[in-house]
Amino acid sequence: MASGRRPWWQRALLYQIYVRSFADSDGDGVGDLRGITQHLDYLEWLGVDAVWLSPITVSPDKDWGYDVADYTDVQPVFGGIEAFDELVAQADARNIRVITDLVPNHSSDQHPWFQESRASRDSPRRDWYLWADPKPDGSPPNNWRSAFGGGSAWTMDERTGQYYMHNFLPEQPDLNWWNEGVRTAFDDILRFWLDRGVAGFRIDVAHGIVKDRELRDNPDPAVATYNANRDDVHEVLQRWRRLVDKYEPARVLLGETWVMEIERLIRFYGSGEDELHLAFNFPFTFSPLEADVLRGIVEATEAALPERAWPVWMLSNHDIARFPTRMAGGDDRKARAALFLLLALRGTPVLYYGDELAMPQADVPPERQRDMDGRDGARTPLPWNGDWKNPWLPMTAQVEPVASQRADDGSFLNYCRALIMQRRANPDLVEGDYETLPSPEGVWAFRRGESTGVAVNLSDETVEVELEERLRLGPWQGVVQRM
Ligand code: GLC
Repeated sequence: MASGRRPWWQRALLYQIYVRSFADSDGDGVGDLRGITQHLDYLEWLGVDAVWLSPITVSPDKDWGYDVADYTDVQPVFGGIEAFDELVAQADARNIRVITDLVPNHSSDQHPWFQESRASRDSPRRDWYLWADPKPDGSPPNNWRSAFGGGSAWTMDERTGQYYMHNFLPEQPDLNWWNEGVRTAFDDILRFWLDRGVAGFRIDVAHGIVKDRELRDNPDPAVATYNANRDDVHEVLQRWRRLVDKYEPARVLLGETWVMEIERLIRFYGSGEDELHLAFNFPFTFSPLEADVLRGIVEATEAALPERAWPVWMLSNHDIARFPTRMAGGDDRKARAALFLLLALRGTPVLYYGDELAMPQADVPPERQRDMDGRDGARTPLPWNGDWKNPWLPMTAQVEPVASQRADDGSFLNYCRALIMQRRANPDLVEGDYETLPSPEGVWAFRRGESTGVAVNLSDETVEVELEERLRLGPWQGVVQRM
């Protein structure tokens, strides 16, 4: 396909900002939107085309923003909606787009919708959430389990004598997506943000929002057959695709499709043009850094994707251990190899803030932990130049700060930036097709587009590889060559 013909989100490098920990503009120890605005020059220098912001909407923070109490206003600690508008305008001036997190599976129990829903059995909002009678012995309606802690996904509401359903915390009641009012309300929420200039949404729990209408027991209680993963979810995602497709310039839907089978993952792309634009590939993220396994996942994904669909790859996010620790075991060479791959494959790469520094998973001492699910180690503040003032999480990730890495030509940060610039400068790397090339064991070689060869050595041995010419690749080394 000719250069420049692909939509922006296929050509873009995305960067996930965990807002509380990116940059703090007012010294209260919590990152905020003005902190991001102040560091747009950094993002521009790095080569970021769009940022995805973790939830910025109003939240009691039981699950750090993923429990939304108001879908159309900004959390005061992040600077309010004015700070958001400023950020979008300033980012736009630098050609950086802003994607926000959309959390449709559940709201906070503090959301007025849920307050009304739980008020009485005849509340007009009752059916906006999933309510069910106890079994005759008083136990929960079925065997569904919560993803946090593994206990029942049902909590008894004494006042009205029914249980309500929550796939996550009891403070995160699941919305009833069979209710047309819920669907319409979310259409309005999407429009609210689209009209404010967001470039699209990262959709939380995109595979899980519709539940079995009959609330059937899961055949295996440990597997969410009926309380997530229903085919009915595709209808909702297609509805949103139709909605965002009305906007110019194009907007993007990026789904947190937490499924481990490629065929199921691919279904979230629909025909390739009528559902999600991008569906996160968790099999890739959780792969060991081994040539055979990674190549297998990429080949299977490439083979299964519909004609017009486009892959998306990431190594870290706010829910899992950071890749330099998880994938690379603290070995700088391996972290470089993983990043090299991320930026050489066909598909939209997503960096998690700090990935560009090779920021490792942090040890957070028990007395400083804030997350109920133990994820703080991936969420600690980005070190700019020494410390933050009273940061909400300790800065225990062992990594050189941005300032010293920028000044050091050999740093991981400058390596990362060089890879991004190499990608930008070569249309084959941005838009070209993927084709596996033969390679010795431990090596992954592929062609991108017409004339770009890529090889990466994912082994401890020096190997010989044949691209345009024969070359020797040291352990964990990658190369891009004209062919
Ligand atoms: C998603 C989010 C995660 C959150 C969960 C419940 O997996 O990424 O942070 O805890 O949804 O909203």
